Amino acid sequence: MEWKHVEGSFSRWTGDVILFFAWQDEDSLPDGLLRWGDSEAPWLKDNRALKDFRAKKSELLLLYSPTEARFPRVLLVGLGKRKDWSLEVLRHATAMAVRRCRDLSLERVALPVLAFDGMPEDQDVLVREALMAAALGLYRYDELKTRDVEKSDCPKALFVCSEGPLPFVHELFHEVDAVSNGIRLARDLATAPANLVTPTRMAQEAARIASAYGMAFEVFDLDKARELGMGGFVAVAQGSREPARFIVMEHCPRGLENQAPLVLVGKGITFDTGGISIKPAAKMEDMKHDMAGAAAVLGTLEAVGRLKIPRRVVGVMPCTENMPDGRAYKPGDVIKTHAGLTVEVISTDAEGRMILCDALSYAVARYQPALMVDLATLTGACVIALGDRVAGLLGNNDALLTTIQNLGKPLGELYWPLPLYDFYFEDIKSDVADFKNVGERKAGTIIGAMFLKQFVPESVPWAHVDIAGTVWADKDLGWIPKGASGFGVRTLVQLIRAWKPDKGA
Ligand code: BES
Ligand code: ZN
Ligand code: MN
Repeated sequence: MEWKHVEGSFSRWTGDVILFFAWQDEDSLPDGLLRWGDSEAPWLKDNRALKDFRAKKSELLLLYSPTEARFPRVLLVGLGKRKDWSLEVLRHATAMAVRRCRDLSLERVALPVLAFDGMPEDQDVLVREALMAAALGLYRYDELKTRDVEKSDCPKALFVCSEGPLPFVHELFHEVDAVSNGIRLARDLATAPANLVTPTRMAQEAARIASAYGMAFEVFDLDKARELGMGGFVAVAQGSREPARFIVMEHCPRGLENQAPLVLVGKGITFDTGGISIKPAAKMEDMKHDMAGAAAVLGTLEAVGRLKIPRRVVGVMPCTENMPDGRAYKPGDVIKTHAGLTVEVISTDAEGRMILCDALSYAVARYQPALMVDLATLTGACVIALGDRVAGLLGNNDALLTTIQNLGKPLGELYWPLPLYDFYFEDIKSDVADFKNVGERKAGTIIGAMFLKQFVPESVPWAHVDIAGTVWADKDLGWIPKGASGFGVRTLVQLIRAWKPDKGA
């Protein structure tokens, strides 16, 4: 979809439909709508369909002009009660509204800024969230369908209409494009099946981004990883016929070569069977999205590149399948990791931490990060604890965790902290190695993070985000249609922009 700004008096605004928001349980329509209606749609305020419209959250009412007009349609979009309003309400309502426009094959949709009057937020934030929700709510994945596909690419254009100038609007269009594209990429990769999204494909995608935005790009195969001592990554990868790829990308605008980078690490298991500790067959197909952490890192770098954010950012994505095989690693194996620490494998299904530990320690050794964030679909326990709309947040630096949580909230990405007390380590003590890769069933998400913590020095502020729940929406959430969410991209882009390299988190 294309964004356009239309500036000037009402008579200059045209389109197939114009959107206006409305509040539940209020006697009159919003002032902005009435003012516009007085001049452009005098039929509107006495329209009898309004009597049946309560303006509940995301309730829609489509009205038709009885005569030829600049807008043949007005779409009223309910916001619910004023006191319950939030940016999430706005995002959901906007997503549902543009989807209705798509269903009707309307090409040109107008969204006047006066529709936002009365919402307690800055205008640029309101416009941004509405456009993001529009772009993301229209997302669908139909690449693999050959019949019964709805190919409507409507709306084709969204006009932001204002009477006066909107100084922020063009930069905002650019931002919305960049970030929503990053999220779409992350969604596409997590949705596409594992026979298509292989480690090789992840590396191709990374190479494409690197060359588009002039980033440094390296990829290690299994032999190279073995040479580098990445025993954890190698252990997981050796059981798969699909060639593994350890991907490293660096966005380093000129002049920032000496800036300690912000490092993003993403779990890239392109399919998780569990390995020798094999998973039950039911729902195993979901494990195609076990690379969503890496996909979010790629999506973030796509946005960072497009926005030319003046920060040094590194992405590290260990990508492999986790398969049972004659060469697969086994329960009881003791693995020497890149950091030199030895791990006793209890479950080969705890493969995420086996590859991430090497990615973290490699990143620390090579880059001396100023900040490090990893994203991983790490534990089913996180889905049990927090459900599918809140990510688990753990790490070694409370300020960083608070920053992430606060940045995510207004963007619709929710995080909740879990504790990482030292005593949790007792659960993974091993008789034969430095520690085990799994404890008892208790506190599964924390144990996963505790394992990773062993590989990050205290001096590096680090956050671990468990996205096992948030990666996938089991039902439609409006701006997140049912399916892959692209969770993490928005927050990470914001974190990178907000980060003051000299002041830590
Ligand atoms: N990829 C899974 C975790 C997962 C489960 C993600 C459900 C998304 C939805 C991970 O590799 C895994 O298998 N974790 C195990 C850990 C256990 C062996 C300690 C789990 O959660 O059961
Ligand atoms: Zn996994
Ligand atoms: Mn697993």
